[in-house]
Amino acid sequence: MASDTTPAETQTFAPSPEFTAQANAGAELYDQAEAEGVDFWARQARELLTWNKDFTEVLDWSNPPFAKWFQDGTLNACYNAVDRHVEAGNGDRVAIHFEGEPGDSRSYTYAQLKDEVSKAANAMEGLGVVKGDRVALYLPMIAEAVIAMLACARIGAIHSVVFGGFSADALRSRVEDGQAKLVVTADGSYRRGKPSMLKPAVDEALSEGASSVEHVLVVRRNEAEVEMTEGRDVWWHDAVGSASTEHTPAEQGAEDPLFVLYTSGTTGKPKGIMHTTGGYLTQGAFTHKYVFDLKPETDVYWCTADVGWVTGHSYVAYAPLVNGSTQVIYEGTPDSPHRGRFWEIVQKYGVTIMYTSPTAIRTMMKWGEEIPGEYDLSSLRVLGTVGEAINPEAWTWFHRVIGGGRCPIVDTWWQTETGAIMISQLPGVTVAKPGSAQVPMPGIKVDVVDDNGQPVPNGTSGFLVLREPWPSMLRTIWGDDDRYVDTYWSRFGDMYFAGDGAKRDEDGDVWILGRVDDVMNVSGHRLSTPEIESALFSHPSVAEAAVVGATDETTGQAVIAFVILSDQADAEGRDKAELAEEMRAHVGKEISPIAKPKKVLIVPELPKTRSGKIMRRLLKDVAEDREVGDVSTLADQTVMQQIVDSLAR
Ligand code: PRX
Repeated sequence: MASDTTPAETQTFAPSPEFTAQANAGAELYDQAEAEGVDFWARQARELLTWNKDFTEVLDWSNPPFAKWFQDGTLNACYNAVDRHVEAGNGDRVAIHFEGEPGDSRSYTYAQLKDEVSKAANAMEGLGVVKGDRVALYLPMIAEAVIAMLACARIGAIHSVVFGGFSADALRSRVEDGQAKLVVTADGSYRRGKPSMLKPAVDEALSEGASSVEHVLVVRRNEAEVEMTEGRDVWWHDAVGSASTEHTPAEQGAEDPLFVLYTSGTTGKPKGIMHTTGGYLTQGAFTHKYVFDLKPETDVYWCTADVGWVTGHSYVAYAPLVNGSTQVIYEGTPDSPHRGRFWEIVQKYGVTIMYTSPTAIRTMMKWGEEIPGEYDLSSLRVLGTVGEAINPEAWTWFHRVIGGGRCPIVDTWWQTETGAIMISQLPGVTVAKPGSAQVPMPGIKVDVVDDNGQPVPNGTSGFLVLREPWPSMLRTIWGDDDRYVDTYWSRFGDMYFAGDGAKRDEDGDVWILGRVDDVMNVSGHRLSTPEIESALFSHPSVAEAAVVGATDETTGQAVIAFVILSDQADAEGRDKAELAEEMRAHVGKEISPIAKPKKVLIVPELPKTRSGKIMRRLLKDVAEDREVGDVSTLADQTVMQQIVDSLAR
């Protein structure tokens, strides 16, 4: 890739001496990791987790890229997240403060959480779930979502959480791919003050196929009328409500699968990213302790992510609880019932650590700083962002307006596949540069390489790779080892290819430049270009479709679709604006409202090379309102002019 200049913003933020003096991390952590190699991770695994049986081998990398960490050790993830804190005398500490969108709330101490997960585990076993079975969870962001995940882990079942915003079709394909035996859902939830439904989507998903499912366990949340299928559907309050609070966690192998989580890839079919137990928990707990400077006795931690995404797995359901934290979980959106909702929650619970997305920050920035100004945010001491790059303007706003100028900000880069944070500042240690994730975590070997896999010099951009296996790495793509090898380990031989472009600045710090494949990042959510194109293509009025991710001020990127109408739609002479709206809604229904194109542009032609490949780069120029780039490789060089003219009309 081309050499380019270092970013213009040179403002840096050094940690305060007071913060450094009390920080969990010190600069020596990097040196220790360097000196100890994989033994560094063995030490973390033993210090941060409780094992039933200690391991004798740290890493088996004899059959790359299939890694085994702590292989002969045994442990249980739910025991580590819950029971051991009760046994250590911390049963009265609050584990979860649940805040519902309508304002209802409930707190669970570790002792209460232990009872709830034990009851849920007994109920699931009563419904025939055994070790190794897959359980699909399609739930709102309520405490039962975390309880259901932990209950699966407790019995050794593999959870597959499907984001509650996904469509029935998306749920069906994930349930089928994983051959789930049980689906856990809710009647619905609350969204912007109104009830929104989940159970009907489960009924629809199971109406055709998905025959592996024996039971559906339904949490009552919004009191809406739902149909219950006799013999298949069971209410949570009946099955879990009547179950015993006594349950012995299953002894799991460190390499037993903990969960599968589907994420968008470069083809239409989502990938089931598989994570296992020992390494995943080790790196999750390690990063959570040092990146957020967690003090479990005094901190109140709040990660705003939904459990439908990896952030909600690693940094809501597992690491914070493994580390014995008190955390907040919130069901709703930042603007319901008013635009101060997030700050009201920070004030109510005295949140000290807040982990959120750049899109949320940019949105709240637009609403004006008077809104957070009405709340007491003085409890905050560490702020974090994830999911997409944070622009320096949003960073400095977050720092000044929310953090009162005193809180370190960690910009954490990682992926569903990496399982845990890989690149981030360490608060109290790193001098922060707004907009850059900067430094690999201790023990992680990150590089930026050119087309031939050679490291690029400072000041240059290239592809982001990971040079060595790490404990929380994905182990495979569910049921598809070949795709695992092809997707991540074939582009640069023995290095993991992350799919992101990155730049090293003059100091060697890493700046993430965004995806270099057919994946878009909208509000920190990963969306696949071909998946949206095929959803559009399934609309009867669409003959051809191409989708690009165009830069967007608020959401980072926005989906812009270019569509050629089918002959029939053309002949009918339908109103184009109406058709475009119909196509947007169609994508919303096929995949999810988050995948809906911001704009559908109806055009006469698409730019193609002589071999028929669509040149999305040129469409991106149009979508971003720039002069169109080099068209010399197009089969018909007038196409771009035709498109521009038709849109002008
Ligand atoms: O492109 C990178 C972007 O999000 C992708 C991973 O998406 P997902 O698997 O859904 O996980 C998101 C939450 C961990 C990455 O390939 N990304 C994630 N964090 C950052 C980021 N881009 C820039 N800066 C970040 N801090």
